[in-house]
Amino acid sequence: MTTRIFSGIQPSGDLHIGNYLGAVRHWVALQQPGAECFYCIVDLHAITVPQEPARLRARTREVLAILLAAGIDPSRSTLFAQSQVPRHTELAWLLNCITPYGWLGRMTQFKGKSAAQREQVTAGLFAYPVLMAADILLYRADQVPVGEDQQQHLELARDIAARFNRLHGETFTLPEPRVTPAGARIRGLDDPAKKMSKSAAGSGHAINLLDPPEVIRRKFQRATTDSLADARFDERRPGVFNLLAIYEAFTGESREAIEARFAGKGYGELKRAVADVTVEALRPLRERHATYAQDPAQLDAIARLGAEKALPIAEATVSAVKERMDVGLAAVNTDERVRRNRAV
Ligand code: TYM
Repeated sequence: MTTRIFSGIQPSGDLHIGNYLGAVRHWVALQQPGAECFYCIVDLHAITVPQEPARLRARTREVLAILLAAGIDPSRSTLFAQSQVPRHTELAWLLNCITPYGWLGRMTQFKGKSAAQREQVTAGLFAYPVLMAADILLYRADQVPVGEDQQQHLELARDIAARFNRLHGETFTLPEPRVTPAGARIRGLDDPAKKMSKSAAGSGHAINLLDPPEVIRRKFQRATTDSLADARFDERRPGVFNLLAIYEAFTGESREAIEARFAGKGYGELKRAVADVTVEALRPLRERHATYAQDPAQLDAIARLGAEKALPIAEATVSAVKERMDVGLAAVNTDERVRRNRAV
């Protein structure tokens, strides 16, 4: 029995160590015999909030280059951009029509994002979690490796799948979230009350995966801590907790060993040590990224191959769903028709 893995990432800003520690490093580790991995750059999710139009495609390629540099291997995983497989949006619509409005109104990310930009709240932002459910259910994924912030969306995806199965007959696998505690919630360095995020303003907020070593060191030096000078895993002191959690996630050391290592030392030393492990862990990624980034044609070819692998699976699910919902007349093979029209 193979396990299907699916996960996604938005090309909505610079990727940071939260994305890496909460998700991407697990995506890499999950590429093992017995697992079938689908990793998707979700550009259609990114446009639920305004994006600079001329930059989205470049950002999508950049995320692709970073994922490859981090160790996603296109010969073992199916790696592509969401918009390349139009069945994502088709399934999203079909699922929209069985998803109660009230379920979406309860999503905390929607509440947060819509409060932050009242003028700009689109129908797309509201329906965002349904598109996310479609991403996952399209491939009948068993497991979804994500950071803690996506857990509520994953529960919704399970609820939508269960509701569809109840209404129209057993169709979807219920996906399991896979949240690894160490690194599942990295906080902003400038404001540890908030999670580290791609969209937050402020140069001291996030350690980006492509930051040069001196920038990483400077950002850690300036990180918010407290006045206790006592390095312990104590959630009530989120700044120090966050630095220790980053150290834990990068080194894999136990919390006891880490606390013992920094006992009686000042925060300056803690910050230097966290910066050192971060710089070392990201060095190979940065170096490999430079090579991939030079060759956009190769990046496009990799994504095209990934989309071609994903497409037939996505088509099979959507036709099963339409069949169950009794939607549509004779199926039209779009590709064939387009080819024929071009030939005329
Ligand atoms: P996105 O692009 O915000 O984040 C990508 C992944 O990084 C994790 N993450 C974090 N982990 C730890 N600490 C943080 N500060 C942190 N910030 C982000 C996220 O949990 C995520 O795993 N809606 C999703 C993208 C998506 C998706 C999907 C994910 C679309 N369709 C289907 C899984 C399955 C999102 O915005 O992730």
